[in-house]
Amino acid sequence: MDFSGNKRPDDMVRITTPELADAFIGEAVEAMRAQVGDGKVLLALSGGVDSSVVAALLIKAIGRQLVCVHVNHGLMRKGESEQVIDVFQNQMGAELVFVDATDRFLNKLAGVADPEAKRHIIGEEFIKVFAEEAAKLEGISFLGQGTIYPDILESEAGVKAHHNVGGLPKDLDFELVEPVKLLFKDEVRMVGKQLGLPDGMVYRQPFPGPGLGVRCLGAITRDRLAALREADAIVREEIDAAGLDIWQYFCVVPDMRATGVRDGRRAYEWPCIIRCVDSIDVMTAEVRELGWALLKKITGRILAEVPGICRVCYDLTPKPIGTVEWE
Ligand code: XMP
Repeated sequence: MDFSGNKRPDDMVRITTPELADAFIGEAVEAMRAQVGDGKVLLALSGGVDSSVVAALLIKAIGRQLVCVHVNHGLMRKGESEQVIDVFQNQMGAELVFVDATDRFLNKLAGVADPEAKRHIIGEEFIKVFAEEAAKLEGISFLGQGTIYPDILESEAGVKAHHNVGGLPKDLDFELVEPVKLLFKDEVRMVGKQLGLPDGMVYRQPFPGPGLGVRCLGAITRDRLAALREADAIVREEIDAAGLDIWQYFCVVPDMRATGVRDGRRAYEWPCIIRCVDSIDVMTAEVRELGWALLKKITGRILAEVPGICRVCYDLTPKPIGTVEWE
């Protein structure tokens, strides 16, 4: 298999069975070994499906020549960095470097409202952090990445700059290793399952590289980001508790306020917008119809438990015309 180009060959078979996934894994392992030789690979391990599958592929291909780096950019969901460390370091025994770069990212993002500018700052900062980590390690010459095919298609179409494609500096001196860049999301999941990753990881909802940064709309502030993180945790907790299988479920907090009444006084706080969508290949998405009782429960909890949010809305927009993320 040729991984050098960014174009999925017309005759490339769609991975729809465990056997096809196994065949892909075999070819990808060979291709990665041929590319890397006895070099070392630094992998950006966010804990999402894509980077987790790439980590598992690389572990299979090159074992201890892989060094995983998990950067907490301060835009992770509640409890997420802790979970990455637990799964990869404790359970899978991978070599994992944990970097808490929260202040560095949030300081750079302060006052930046434009979504593409935010994406580029986050992407560039990521690369800088990895370069610094690489400099501390001996002999790293490759960078593993969880780029998937829709990232490439949408970046080429100019829809938006995904951080793992659009944010790379020109003078990057790592060579990229991107074994799933020609795959669609459902194919990546099937490969992950065949690699023996736990279901909770393989079927985990996708989370954008720029994290909560593209859900804390406009210029990010620490207080609004904290409110978003708490509201997001409630949405996830309640939907998981209801046993629903939904592609992506989260909320966004816009940079505006609405009037409310709290404890008998006028409140002027942020609204929170819940978004639940189903998708097969990320190119299109349908809004999931949630039961009224569940929506009321989530709403009640957010209003009662999240300081700074006084209004809850539900997003009814399919993709197209709305992208899954608001920014
Ligand atoms: P959109 O918003 O383009 O999202 O309909 C499609 C899917 O991609 C995820 N997404 C991103 N993933 N970097 C990523 O790695 C990004 O900048 C990014 N933006 C969106 C989104 O969550 C959805 O699953």
